[in-house]
Order: sequence, then C-alpha cells, then structure tokens
Amino acid sequence: ALYNEPYRPQFHFSPPKNWMNDPNGLVYENGTYHLFFQQNPTANVAGNLHWGHATSPDLVHWQPQPTALAPDSLGLVFSGSAVLDSANTSGLGRPGQPAPLVALYTAHSTEKEKANRQDVESQCLAYSLDHGQTWTKYAHNPVLKNQGSRDFRDPKVSWHPAQKQWVMALSAHDHVEFYASKNLTSWVKLSDFGQTLGAHGGVWECPDLVAVPDSAGLPHWVLIVNMNPGGPNGGSATQYFVGKFDGKTFSTSQPGTRWLDYGPDNYAGVTWANLPKGSRPTYIGWMSNWEYGQQVPTSPWRSAMTVPRTLTLRPGPRASELLLTSRPVEGLVGRLAEDFVSLPNVQVQGRYDLARHLKHPTGRYTLHFNVPRAQTWAVELSNGKNERVLIGYDHTKKQYYFDRSQSGNVTFAPADKGFTRVAYAPRQARGNAQEIGLVIDAASVELFADGGRTCLTGIFFPSQPFTGLALQAKGLQLPVVEVMGMKSIWEK
Ligand code: FRU
Repeated sequence: ALYNEPYRPQFHFSPPKNWMNDPNGLVYENGTYHLFFQQNPTANVAGNLHWGHATSPDLVHWQPQPTALAPDSLGLVFSGSAVLDSANTSGLGRPGQPAPLVALYTAHSTEKEKANRQDVESQCLAYSLDHGQTWTKYAHNPVLKNQGSRDFRDPKVSWHPAQKQWVMALSAHDHVEFYASKNLTSWVKLSDFGQTLGAHGGVWECPDLVAVPDSAGLPHWVLIVNMNPGGPNGGSATQYFVGKFDGKTFSTSQPGTRWLDYGPDNYAGVTWANLPKGSRPTYIGWMSNWEYGQQVPTSPWRSAMTVPRTLTLRPGPRASELLLTSRPVEGLVGRLAEDFVSLPNVQVQGRYDLARHLKHPTGRYTLHFNVPRAQTWAVELSNGKNERVLIGYDHTKKQYYFDRSQSGNVTFAPADKGFTRVAYAPRQARGNAQEIGLVIDAASVELFADGGRTCLTGIFFPSQPFTGLALQAKGLQLPVVEVMGMKSIWEK
C-alpha cells in the first residue's frame, strides 16, 4: 500500500510517487509550514522539474499537496524560495485577499542549454493569494535576467528590516551574489562572496543567508552554501560560513571549511522564512546525493527529506570560533515516541542489545546517550540477514563514522560513486564527554554528536528491515541510554 513500501521513510517526508530533490519555497504562514520541492511529476528520475508541495501544521506530520509550479517557455522550474509579502511591497496583493506569498525560483531553459549558451538560467517570480494553494506566474518574468553567467540559480530571499529591503542570495557557479529589492520584482546587485574562500570542489548551489543565535541568544550571520560535487565524503554536501552582513556585503573571519553535515546524504538544505516569533532558524535538507540519488532502489518514489532541524551557534574546539549546530526540531521526538525506555548504568562489553527493551522493535528509533570519556563505540542497526549499518566513534582517529558497506543492497550504483565507502566526520568539541543523538528511520540514520557540532546523515537499503539495535564497545559505561520507538506519521 501507499507509504508502506520497502524503504518508505515513516517519519521523514517523501513524495507519494516519482522523483524529488531540493527543498524549495520553505515558508510558514497562517498556521502552516510549506515545503515545496524539486519534483519530476512524470518519472522517478531527475528531469522535467516542477515544484511539488506538502504542508504541515507542526513540522512533524506532512500532507502531500498538488504540484505548485510547472515549466513554461522560460524553462524548467528549478530551486528557489518563498516569502510572505505582508506589507504588499510587490503590489501583487488584492484588497480582501490574503497577503501574497511570493516565490522566487530559477527558470532553466533546456533550449538555451541545447544551443550551448551560458545564460541558461534566470530568476522568476510567482505568487499566491490563497495561502499557497494556487500560484500565478508574474507577467513580466524574468525578474532577474542572466548577463551570461553559468550556474546562476537558486534565489533565497529574506526581509532585512534595518535596510527596509529584500535581500536575495544567489549562487553563481563558484561564488554567491547578493541582490536587493524594495518590491521583489526589480533587483539591484549588492556584492559577491566566496571565490577564494571555503571549498571549491564543485558548483556552488542553493545558498542561504540566515541570522542564527548563539547560546546566549545573540544573532550572527551565517551563509549556507551547498556544493556538488566535492563534499567531505564525496559528491554533494553543505558548507557554511559564520560572519557579518552589513546590508550589502557578507564577510567572514573564520578560516577553514566547515560542513553543516559531514554525511553523504544531506544536500541542498536551506531554512524556513517567516517563522513564528521566538522560533529558532529551522532547516531541512534533501536526504540523498547526486552521485547515486537517481539509482537508489525505491519505487514508486525516490528520495526523502531529512528531519527538520533547528540551528544554533555554539563554541567550537577553539572558543573564539562558532560552529553551526543542528538538532531535530523540537516536538519531533515528543510527538512520535511511542515506546520509551531509559536504561540506567549500561555496561557495554562487546555487544549490548537495545531493541529487546522495546515493546515493538520497528526499526524506527531515536537514541540518546552521553559518553563520559570519549572512547571507541558503535551503534549497530541489523537484520536477520547478516546485514548491518554501523554508526559510531573511532577514538584512534578522533572521528565519527558511518559504515554501510554491509548494509544489503549496495550495488545499484557503480562502485566509483562511493556508496560503500565509509564516511568520516571530525569530532569538533572540547572536553572528553560526548553527547550523542541518533534518528533512525526505515532507510536512514542521522547522527547529532556533541550538541549537534558534528552531524552525519546517511541512507541504506537492507534486504529486510533493520529492526535490530545494539551498542558495540569494549568496556563502555553509559550513565543512561534513552531509546524511543517512533510512530509512523502515515498510519491513521
Ligand atoms: C541542487 C540543484 C539546484 C538546482 C536544482 C535542479 O541539487 O542542482 O542548483 O536548482 O538542483 O533540480
């Protein structure tokens, strides 16, 4: 049955059928969180890109909605963002109707692409006067023309009250360009960022300029930059810069490349606009990788999103440095935990079975534990077919890792695409104690280590569900291990 197929995520969003990639148009309005996404409504591989749509009252339960935006003579509908134009700066609002929701997206012309032109991509606008149910394309698209740049796409727009203007972060092949507008329809260039900073192993895509609070509540500017390929574990990945934005220019004083998630399967993530007052910045990513995402063995759909995550800045190993940390959105575990066990004083000598403590070992778990002194350990997901995933910490390497080499179906993509390669992520915290959170669904695991300083997300496809859950270590003593069995959001 629908939403019950093998590998179907039970509490992560995935489309009922066909291909999905990037999250788009993330905006909260009128009690609803909107999630639009890159969608091919006619096939289970990338291409023919539209904006699909889903809505949620709580960022936990999702309702698929009709396709929102379709290609036109300007091209396919590539990634972009949406905002609430509450003051009707665009003039697109109508008396007596809800304020316009305005989407800025990239039109990608396959005709120009075939003609080998550089100016393939331009930025377009669409708006909705019915809370996002139906969308009208702006009559004078594009709103930002292409002057001959390759990979000129993925507009992410936000309102900057100090300058009383909209600011657009746009990716431009190997850097980010910033533009400003008073009305969302005419845009002026502000600045460039990043040609010589950060990682450049691939094309820069899907940027997001977002104010993120530190632990004291003080906001700092963060620029999220997705890049494909060239990620720390191959293919697609997301780097970020912590810095300053003066209304015109973004600058950073923090050296080195930082990754929002070191795992192979978190890409194109950006944050929600117009969140309710008091919310933390909230992010979601596409839980896959362009290296093999179109070959994963799922049908009739392909791809899921990560869990929504809230973002906070916390000190890194050097106190002067701020790291972008993530954790599952508040309420996710609370709303979905059905089995809950808190195991005091767990001694792991070899292998310690956790699943036997649960009433219904479904393979959907969240796990929480603190390791008093960093040492080598692993969490093992397993089935009766001798297949497993290991996610853990290698103390000799001072790295977290994710090993899916024995996870079942690993041959759907060519070996050089790296699906079976072990993924590593550095520990980036001071002190010896580790705080570990894990979110495990039918075909994915998300690690949030050291208060979310190191994240690692990976997908897998066992020939039978991984209902087994165990800890592995030599002489590991854990004061408490919390294990939650998670409900399905699709079961009525
Ligand atoms: C990122 C990306 C975007 C583009 C979209 C096309 O995954 O390549 O840059 O807009 O996907 O689907």
